[in-house]
Amino acid sequence: MLLFRLVNRHFDTARIYSSEHALGKALNSAFQSELVSREDVFVTTKLKNTEHDDPVAAIEDSLTNMQLGYVDLFLIHWPIKLRTDETLTPIKEEDFLPLDIKSTWQGMEQCMEMGRTKAIGLSNFSSKKIEGLLKYAKIPPAVDQVEMHPQWQQKKLRDYCNKHNIHVSAWAPLRGHNKSWGSNEVMDNPVMQEIAQKHGKTRAQVMLRWALEKGVSELPKSYNTGRISQNFQIFDWSLTPDDHDKICKFEQRKLLPAENFVNSTTSPYKTLEELWDGEI
Ligand SMILES: NC(=O)c1ccc[n+]([C@@H]2O[C@H](COP(=O)([O-])OP(=O)(O)OC[C@H]3O[C@@H](n4cnc5c(N)ncnc54)[C@H](OP(=O)(O)O)[C@@H]3O)[C@@H](O)[C@H]2O)c1
Repeated sequence: MLLFRLVNRHFDTARIYSSEHALGKALNSAFQSELVSREDVFVTTKLKNTEHDDPVAAIEDSLTNMQLGYVDLFLIHWPIKLRTDETLTPIKEEDFLPLDIKSTWQGMEQCMEMGRTKAIGLSNFSSKKIEGLLKYAKIPPAVDQVEMHPQWQQKKLRDYCNKHNIHVSAWAPLRGHNKSWGSNEVMDNPVMQEIAQKHGKTRAQVMLRWALEKGVSELPKSYNTGRISQNFQIFDWSLTPDDHDKICKFEQRKLLPAENFVNSTTSPYKTLEELWDGEI
């Protein structure tokens, strides 16, 4: 049920993206013209790294920004606590604050108990970090939203989450194609071209279908109406086991290791290994 709702009109925003106002405006205009009702859309937003002390105040602000009575999913964006938004200035050593995920999670639970979100979850958490949180969570996380595409397949995390009934949602499912920080390596891979040609689909559609068949929901982003429409045409055909075998062999390389969240002095993570608990 959650997967169905996540693939069907899912809007993914975050407090750090500065897109909540625009999304809320578009949604409310669609509600008023009766194009869709509130129940037809699934809205996710995420706690900023600077807001761990007060998730309730954060979600209230998000709801005001979006003129909504509730969101469907509220995520902790990163397992990191900062003094200053990382988008404003490059992160400095003095920006890191001690992280107490237990108290952050209690604040997230309060948001849900207050009816301000239908579900709560995580983003960019490793299996080990989720395991730690499950020891004290009164409400277990519904979702972990993580980088996932054929070049970062997240097998270990998916297995762990399946076992614990946590839904995985894939960000950058197109590996940030043509973006300054992204990479075209997957789409340019001749194997991807071969599979796409065989099915009469685009390489982007093969990437999106692949993730769907792995049981995750996904968040492809496009500013182009033709590509947005193309990205929805993935529900009435399937990949073969041979296609999966070929994609399974793709070299694994994470797009966004998040080195900026690691330092040897003030970050809770001295190394990337510690940030991702070996899932790197
Ligand atoms: N939780 C997190 O930490 C986190 C981090 C990053 C992202 N996210 C979420 O994930 C979403 C997607 O991530 P993303 O934008 O970084 O990566 P992405 O969706 O993998 O890649 C977007 C890029 O792919 C291009 N594209 C889209 N459809 C295409 C198609 N059919 N053919 C060819 N190119 C296509 C887009 O270009 P055009 O616009 O020109 O089509 C854009 O340059 C974000 O919007 C955000 O909601 C979450």
